[in-house]
Amino acid sequence: MKLINGFSKLSKLEKINWLAACFTQSPEAFIQQVTSWQHEDDSVQKVIDGFTENAIANFALPYSIAPNFMINGKLYAVPMVIEESSVVAAASSAAKFWQERGGFHAKVLGTVKLGQVHFLWQGNSARLRELFPAIKNYLLHSADDLTENMRKRGGGITDIELVDFETVEPNYFQLRVSFETCDSMGANFVNSVLERFADRLELFFTSSELLKDAERDVEVIMSILSNYTPDCIVRAWAECPIASFSELARSQGMDAQSLADRFAMAVRIAQIDPYRATTHNKGIYNGIDAVVLATGNDFRAIEACGHTYASRDGQYRSLSSCTLQDGNLRFQLDIPLAMGTVGGLTALHPLAKYSLEILGNPSAEELMCITACVGLAQNFAAVRSLITTGIQQGHMKMHLTNILNHLQATEAQAVAAQQYFQNQTVSFSAVRAFLDLHQ
Ligand code: MEV
Repeated sequence: MKLINGFSKLSKLEKINWLAACFTQSPEAFIQQVTSWQHEDDSVQKVIDGFTENAIANFALPYSIAPNFMINGKLYAVPMVIEESSVVAAASSAAKFWQERGGFHAKVLGTVKLGQVHFLWQGNSARLRELFPAIKNYLLHSADDLTENMRKRGGGITDIELVDFETVEPNYFQLRVSFETCDSMGANFVNSVLERFADRLELFFTSSELLKDAERDVEVIMSILSNYTPDCIVRAWAECPIASFSELARSQGMDAQSLADRFAMAVRIAQIDPYRATTHNKGIYNGIDAVVLATGNDFRAIEACGHTYASRDGQYRSLSSCTLQDGNLRFQLDIPLAMGTVGGLTALHPLAKYSLEILGNPSAEELMCITACVGLAQNFAAVRSLITTGIQQGHMKMHLTNILNHLQATEAQAVAAQQYFQNQTVSFSAVRAFLDLHQ
């Protein structure tokens, strides 16, 4: 019997017991394992359980630190939450590399958040455009009570545009609303204002004296923020003389110019080919998502936006670019990042709060800069490996620990294996064979 009504009403233990009985091979082991993944402090557990419905346990991911990030002249130790073995090591290594070359630089190019009210109106667009100044004026003040606090912090509604989709879909129009949400990501604020606008838009059409009776037929379809925020964007870059790649190049039997050329070519390939661009950008998001998660921000929103932005000219392309000019290599990332440092999970999740403290309690703009630089560092580390040793060497070295844990190696075996595999190719079977020989 696997269908259940009222699951959400069960206690946590009742939920676990039901799952154990219906879906697991060894219910007792399952119950023991799942119940062990609870925070020892009940008040903290209560907060975590409150994030979603039907929480039965906490799902652990490593909370790591990538130190030595020099960004705009300031040093950061960056918290990252990610399960992929080599990501933090790669970020740390790239951070160190660039710290010795002037560090990363970043600036916020815009912080505009967007929302939409989608509606149908049985009239022509010229007449709607004529009415729009009055509609806009009416709407702008209709949410004063909701925007009061945000306005005190320097934000609020910054514009409302009328977008006409009539040629694509009969009678379909849109209000595209711009917001400044200061240090908050602002999703709740934006959605509350939009729902107010939806309500007042209908009221305007039904009650305004500017309209004839035949013009009152309006229907709001939906109102919601848009996660596509191309003007909430940050630019991160790192730049150094090509000659300063000499040591790295020499270790690969190359000269610095050839290495820089290969690097720039690899980035150009990701501009040209969507198959490569997807993997290239995935490497960027390895770093971005890890910081976004660690700081309690919404990684789905940030990924969705970035991938749309990467397709803004009609083809999916690399988010980063590389130029070689006047003997310098400049590696740059333009990436939309709608992040917040107040509200949402940032204050609720105990570790997210500490992540922000470790970063020096940054403003949202400073956090955008830090996050973009980690994305750029991650991208740099991946492409540097790809055009030199390949990524498997570093990746499998990190993965060795996972394999050793999986095979339940003893401490002594693990130490011996780490030593042995420094010069050997790591694979699951090679590690198993090694352990068999070193019982
Ligand atoms: C692996 O998680 C990420 C990379 O594939 C990124 C890239 O290929 O640029 C290494």
